[in-house]
Amino acid sequence: MKKNILITGGAGFIGNHVVRLFVNKYPDYHIINLDKLTYAGNLANLTDVENMPNYTFVKADICDFEKIISIFDEYNITDVIHLAAESHVDRSIKDPFTFAQTNVMGTLSLLQAAKEKWKDNYAAHRFYHVSTDEVYGALEFDDTLFTETTSYDPHSPYSASKAASDHFVRAFHDTYGMNIIISNCSNNYGPYQFPEKLIPLFINNIRHRKPLPVYGKGENVRDWLYVIDHARAIDIIFHEGKDGDTYNIGGFNEWKNIDLIKVMIKTVDKLLGNPEGHSLELITYVTDRAGHDLRYAIDSRKLKNELGWEPSLQFEEGIEKTVRWYLENQDWLDNVTSGEYEKYYEKMYNA
Ligand code: NAD
Ligand code: TYD
Repeated sequence: MKKNILITGGAGFIGNHVVRLFVNKYPDYHIINLDKLTYAGNLANLTDVENMPNYTFVKADICDFEKIISIFDEYNITDVIHLAAESHVDRSIKDPFTFAQTNVMGTLSLLQAAKEKWKDNYAAHRFYHVSTDEVYGALEFDDTLFTETTSYDPHSPYSASKAASDHFVRAFHDTYGMNIIISNCSNNYGPYQFPEKLIPLFINNIRHRKPLPVYGKGENVRDWLYVIDHARAIDIIFHEGKDGDTYNIGGFNEWKNIDLIKVMIKTVDKLLGNPEGHSLELITYVTDRAGHDLRYAIDSRKLKNELGWEPSLQFEEGIEKTVRWYLENQDWLDNVTSGEYEKYYEKMYNA
């Protein structure tokens, strides 16, 4: 069936993989990628799909309700997959207002537009909200996992804003009967991640022999999933998930930060031809992040049992692919970190 799907945040890290998957896999769908192109949005992530006939890019802010309404009208939007967000915990600690504005008010603006435009037949339209496991708070160092029924307990301004947006999405289901779905995923890694997040930052720093700032003692635990497996899960949940339901996405792949950092060091050193252990001296313990969540770990059995999704990559393979990608795409990293990519947008869209 033909669909006109509005994907928000498609120029960001996860969004570009979702856009690529949908544009290539569903030639009958028109994919409208709406992105404000903040520091985290980069159209150079999408050069391979930018000329596809079923792909359109629109530069817009999700908080601009009138603009969102006009985009719904212009493209006859049938469905939304919403990824646009401010996504970095450290930035949220410095600037919580921007997180509340984009993540809460922006989501509300999209929901309200969808409500107005789809009110005659909610069942025919789906609003898919992409969220994070961080809404569940932090686990102890034990064997507990976040399930879909774990109570929300966000600690950072980022996770608080994502939790609020999840609540609004559910409220639009419960109050107006909108067809919504939410997924909460663990930490993603892979190509095109902005190098302020742990994995690309550290790969880049190891390559340039810069210090690796490990927060606290490096004992915090994260559950890592290859980004393309997240995109595959979004595809399956969007098409087969139940109206009003929530799905946790994760790969049962927990790593203590310091152990993960040692794997990155080993892999980068191996691929650069350095002797084993060469870059261990770059590890630098720094002051801990305020409110640093101890441990995240996802139970994704519901997604496996109900919809048959499983990660396709083992972590060892995924991390090696990822390190190779960043080492082979130093130009991308340099552009992103130098601000060159901003000039690229200006040339393309503000000329
Ligand atoms: P990202 O920061 O790489 O990308 C966010 C994108 O949203 C960028 O392209 C940015 O330009 C765009 N954007 C920001 N504000 C906007 C606005 N006001 N209007 C329109 N576009 C705007 O983020 P990401 O890591 O790709 O995360 C995408 C989504 O997935 C987010 O909702 C995030 O909460 C969620 N998520 C991320 C992870 C992760 O590990 N990265 C894990 C689980 C869930
Ligand atoms: P990050 O990639 O920011 O993701 P999140 O905070 O959403 O989990 O950080 C992953 C983990 O790595 C987290 O425990 C914080 C830690 N970290 C560092 O120790 N040093 C760093 O420079 C960064 C960016 C993160």
